[in-house]
Amino acid sequence: MQIFLDTADIEAIAARAHSGLVDGVTTNPSLIAASGADIFERIGEICAAVDGPVSAEVVATDFDAMLAEGRKLAAIAPNVVVKLPLTTDGLKACHIFAGEVVQTNVTLCFSINQALLAAKAGASYISPFVGRVEDMGGDGLDLLMGIREVYDHFGYETELLAASLRSPAHVESAARVGCDVVTIPPKVFDQMICHPLTDSGLEAFLADWKKTGRKGLA
Ligand code: E4P
Repeated sequence: MQIFLDTADIEAIAARAHSGLVDGVTTNPSLIAASGADIFERIGEICAAVDGPVSAEVVATDFDAMLAEGRKLAAIAPNVVVKLPLTTDGLKACHIFAGEVVQTNVTLCFSINQALLAAKAGASYISPFVGRVEDMGGDGLDLLMGIREVYDHFGYETELLAASLRSPAHVESAARVGCDVVTIPPKVFDQMICHPLTDSGLEAFLADWKKTGRKGLA
């Protein structure tokens, strides 16, 4: 399973990019706005910091303008993935980009039907928003399972990218469903590494070692 960071914070990305665990980055207009950076400059910086796919979202809502914005974003670097909203115009633009071999991430997906249509349009990635489904009292895990089932049933190659994940438990659920990718805030990435029993176990091991009076092994 690939792990993407869901952020436009270049320092947060740079601090984690060399761990060998970060496979890509996703951004959205809210994250770019929060960074205060120019979108074209920031996407260029992120693409230089990370080897894998970097999703950059259009802000246009009509077909022609989406195509123009998407082409401008795709020209920033070879690893840019054009992110498109799951609307009629977004799906039409996705279909065109698929023909031009431009990578796409269809975002704001909240139903199996929407995911089915994105796959038919040739999306490289589909982004169901687990946390936001749960914010409304829905079952985000069930949405992931449904999309996985339908994609596998028909052999769609669109990658299932679990988005709007807010906790390590969300990541474990997405992994168990067989999502191809999870995108997570840097904080959740850090939380995945930690466990209180790892900390207390290590502390005990090192205390026992210290008692022997021996030094380190290098
Ligand atoms: C993914 O592409 C989105 O940018 C993101 O996961 C949305 O997460 P949120 O619902 O926590 O804002």
